[in-house]
Amino acid sequence: MSQREQWGSRVGFILAAVGSAIGLGNIWRFPYMAYENGGGAFLIPYIFAMLTAGIPFMILEFGLGHKFRGSAPKTFAAINPKWEWLGWMQVFVAAVIAVYYVAVIGWSISYTGFAVTQAWGDAPKDFFFGQYLGLSSSPFDMGGMQTTVLLSVVLAWAITWVCLVSGVRAGIERAGKVLMPTLFILLLVMIARVVTLDGAMNGLNWLFKPDFSALTNYKVWVAAYGQIFFTLSIGFAIMIAYSSYLPKKADINNNACMTVFINCGFSMSAGVMIFAVLGYMAAQQGVGVKEVVSSGVGLAFITLPTAINLMPMPALFGTLFFLALTTAGISSHISIVEACISAFMDKLGWERKRAASILCGGGLVISLVFCTGAGLYILDIVDHFINNFGIMGAAVIEIFFITWLCNLEVVREHVNRYSEFYVGAVWSACLRYLTVPMLVFLLISNFVGDLK
Ligand code: PHE
Ligand code: NA
Repeated sequence: MSQREQWGSRVGFILAAVGSAIGLGNIWRFPYMAYENGGGAFLIPYIFAMLTAGIPFMILEFGLGHKFRGSAPKTFAAINPKWEWLGWMQVFVAAVIAVYYVAVIGWSISYTGFAVTQAWGDAPKDFFFGQYLGLSSSPFDMGGMQTTVLLSVVLAWAITWVCLVSGVRAGIERAGKVLMPTLFILLLVMIARVVTLDGAMNGLNWLFKPDFSALTNYKVWVAAYGQIFFTLSIGFAIMIAYSSYLPKKADINNNACMTVFINCGFSMSAGVMIFAVLGYMAAQQGVGVKEVVSSGVGLAFITLPTAINLMPMPALFGTLFFLALTTAGISSHISIVEACISAFMDKLGWERKRAASILCGGGLVISLVFCTGAGLYILDIVDHFINNFGIMGAAVIEIFFITWLCNLEVVREHVNRYSEFYVGAVWSACLRYLTVPMLVFLLISNFVGDLK
């Protein structure tokens, strides 16, 4: 049995964890969530959720991975052999995300190239759905630029594979050290570029103008908690796997706080960038900001290209934006696939090369579904179920199991061992009495929302 791999440095670990946390969601989900749920006032429930659920849960996951030195299935099996299935359930959720997340990264790679000449022309919407994806309801219809889509998705898988076969230190850690600083610089350059555009301040005003009446709406609080779980990649095997490679003496509490703060700081900065662009776009088109706000795929591949067309030096901002989106996506994708790979390595004793090649190869084959004419349609459905039920479901079972059925104090003692500051009874209480009920409530409200 060879020794478990280890991170080379503390910074390396934090950048890898941050690389997982910062993803497409920080750029295309957070700004819209904030705008929709009270603008500046959303920061209150958001920060509250970050402090009471995000940080405690992150500390818990880092603690579990570090204590049991294993992927999620191995960790839960070590606690109680009857609970190994929970780990596999989380790995399954991660695997499903891995195969469709990569499709969006692929599109983003294509669009980095398109941005050079604004290949999307005057009608980015028709271009995206029609010419690029060749959307139809039939998976066998190959009407769009399927070769381009396919090559981009293959490239995205190839990058992930290269990082993963190279190992924790030479692959994942090095990728984080290159990708994350690059991403931060890209974002800063974009912010500097867009805040001086006409109308940018008006856009920011829409994002940050506080509507305090939103605070009395329970949906706003639900949205804040939902965003925190999603954005931090907690509750589905990833952070457990990453922290299983920490050296023995690691400051769990501090690492967890750093990861959370950097992720949330990035989200707010991305919000500034996106809303400055939206404000400019609205001014150019002579409409209100309200008419141009959007999120997700629509924001990235339709609204932003439209805005880019209106900008001075469109090629510059366009390539920066899609490069940033690709960077944020790839570093998250690496972590999702690593959650799966580490589980197979632990369970079957596979070598890293073998696990990475088999899983990336198999993943690529399944991802091809998203390169067909029905790709976006299937992606929407899968994404909806995974976001609303998969992630939350796996998270709530994990946290209920650990905090109600196991001795949480053992974990608390463990995370405090080499940490500069300690977590006390408040930590346990937040997890037990606040996070668990909140997650249950989230699941129910998503379920009821679906029934309507
Ligand atoms: N945390 C990521 C984000 O904000 C999302 C993510 C989902 C990351 C799944 C990894 C796996 O975009
Ligand atoms: Na995130």
